[in-house]
Amino acid sequence: MAAVSVQFPPAEDVMAPTASFPPASQHIVDECHDAIMTAAAKVPTESLDPVTTSVHRKRNVFDMFRLDGRVAVVTGGARGLGYSMAEGLCAAGLSGIAILDLQTDLGESACKQLNSEYGVSARFYRLDVRDEVAVQDAMDSVVRDLGKIDILVLSAGVADLVHAEDYSPAKFRRVIDINLNGSFVCAQAAGKHMIAAGRGGSIIFIGSMSGSIVNWPNPQSAYNASKAGVIHLMKSLSAEWAQHRIRCNSISPGYMDTPLNTTYEEAYFHEWKSRTPMGRLGQPEELAGCALWLASDASSFCTGSDILIDGGYTVL
Ligand SMILES: NC(=O)c1ccc[n+]([C@@H]2O[C@H](COP(=O)([O-])OP(=O)(O)OC[C@H]3O[C@@H](n4cnc5c(N)ncnc54)[C@H](O)[C@@H]3O)[C@@H](O)[C@H]2O)c1
Repeated sequence: MAAVSVQFPPAEDVMAPTASFPPASQHIVDECHDAIMTAAAKVPTESLDPVTTSVHRKRNVFDMFRLDGRVAVVTGGARGLGYSMAEGLCAAGLSGIAILDLQTDLGESACKQLNSEYGVSARFYRLDVRDEVAVQDAMDSVVRDLGKIDILVLSAGVADLVHAEDYSPAKFRRVIDINLNGSFVCAQAAGKHMIAAGRGGSIIFIGSMSGSIVNWPNPQSAYNASKAGVIHLMKSLSAEWAQHRIRCNSISPGYMDTPLNTTYEEAYFHEWKSRTPMGRLGQPEELAGCALWLASDASSFCTGSDILIDGGYTVL
């Protein structure tokens, strides 16, 4: 059946006719008014799913950012960008959040903090995203413990600086395994639950501007290749899973002020800032608004998009 898009105002807002008409045409006006009232009363009071639905009530744009009652999983959420995005989602009303990370102490204290600050039910699961059995177990546990998975943020990642001629295959493989294969393994495990539940979902990959440009002068071929792979993986899954109402998008940050970057030499920071039109690194919380938009119904027609947040780095 062809989709029809109709938006009616609430029945109570439909105005009764106020103009006066000649007696001969008044009954036509009355009939029109009755027909409008009858049609308006038939419009569902709850908005149907915006991805597939043809009939939905107009919603306040700020309400579309709310995540009340939803459950999110954030890999790499023990610190850095993952934690900051987790906070942004919790502030919008999540009922549950799961942090999946390698670092137990940081992960547990992140959950404590999210629970005390936002009242959300927060659970930590320790795992390595390369371990597909542990990942599937953790996603199953999230569904058992928190009820479901609506949102997945894939922030676990590593970087290193090694000149290509010196890169050992094992070291190169490690970066690809964590950043690219780990993202796939986690998306697949959560995606299976989303598909089985039939409610759709939102998967947010964390790419990087390194997925579309080459950072200079950093020798980071494995990282760049892994992030290009993450972005194209996201696009592939967005096409495959649109039929299941699972939206896949990526956020691609430029240089951000997180522990990932603290080990680099001062000269790198100077170079990075001078190549960024805004002249600075981004703060972790500067991604949270985008993550919330992508997680929520506010982005209900957005899938397969890579969103660069880089202080202008990639325009030059
Ligand atoms: N910081 C930046 O400048 C920047 C820029 C672009 C993209 N990114 C990407 O953003 C994501 C987060 O980066 P960040 O700056 O917050 O880094 P971070 O090092 O602060 O946080 C990464 C988190 O991932 C976890 N992690 C690492 N390997 C893991 C594994 N194998 N299994 C499970 N957890 C693992 C770490 O324990 C850590 O908590 C990464 O994918 C990174 O590539 C960062």
